[in-house]
Amino acid sequence: MRSPQAIAADPAVNAFVMANAGSGKTTTLVNRVARLLLAGSAPGAILCLTFTKAAAAEMQRRLYERLGDWAVAGDARLRDQLAALEERAADSFDAHDLSRARALFRPGAGTPGGLKIQTIHAFCEQLLRRFPVEAEVSPLFRVIDEAEAADIRRRARDRVALADDIPGLATAYLHMAGKLSQPDFEAMFDRFEAKRAELTDYVAQDGGAATLQDRVAASVGLDAWIEPEAAERAAVTARASTQRPG
Ligand SMILES: Nc1ncnc2c1ncn2[C@@H]1O[C@H](COP(=O)(O)OP(=O)(O)OP(=O)(O)O)[C@@H](O)[C@H]1O
Ligand SMILES: [Mg+2]
Repeated sequence: MRSPQAIAADPAVNAFVMANAGSGKTTTLVNRVARLLLAGSAPGAILCLTFTKAAAAEMQRRLYERLGDWAVAGDARLRDQLAALEERAADSFDAHDLSRARALFRPGAGTPGGLKIQTIHAFCEQLLRRFPVEAEVSPLFRVIDEAEAADIRRRARDRVALADDIPGLATAYLHMAGKLSQPDFEAMFDRFEAKRAELTDYVAQDGGAATLQDRVAASVGLDAWIEPEAAERAAVTARASTQRPG
């Protein structure tokens, strides 16, 4: 019976694998890439994405090691290795197959030319660099690290706290700072950031910030925006007048 590892390494099938740590996932992926290359796939058409740089380097190292090993293996040993990998009889590989397998190794190049093993982050960055117009980003964009991003966030918040160019902004900041705990306050800004595009669109629709209050009021069933204090006063006055003996 074929092992699950062999099935998942067969380039003829689409496979989704979930398996425990150390159970042979990287081995399976390296086998799969090796089999694709043996089958004649163009190295440039193969893309391997990993989450961490360490995983990408490990995959690259192991593939390189494998191909390097093939390049120097004697006929019998190479036949055995290919047979195990492709689940075929050792004598089904002819001299041409063996020399093709040996030629996959490119000294100094690591992996066959054009084959990409990289992190998903690096891949996305490359994609954005190639298609900045389509992605609506500046062609000169720069990826910043976590520390730099946190610093920019901090400075942006300071600016909001001290803003005097947008009426009411600094007051709103102080108000929310008083209403919320420090973690909740931070979380609120994180949510603003995560939903920046949606919030900007929402504020921009139908007249921008000017009509925002009215729209918020309408969403809770009020005819118009009313300050909380005024609402409180109106409720008390109405009650007082209905309770007054006629
Ligand atoms: N079928 C197999 N038979 C024997 N040893 C194997 C087999 N598959 C993998 N191994 C060995 O098991 C060890 C772990 O394999 P591998 O690194 O591929 O697992 P992994 O699932 O990628 O691990 P991790 O979760 O740490 O990334 C390696 O030493 C590998 O050579
Ligand atoms: Mg692994």
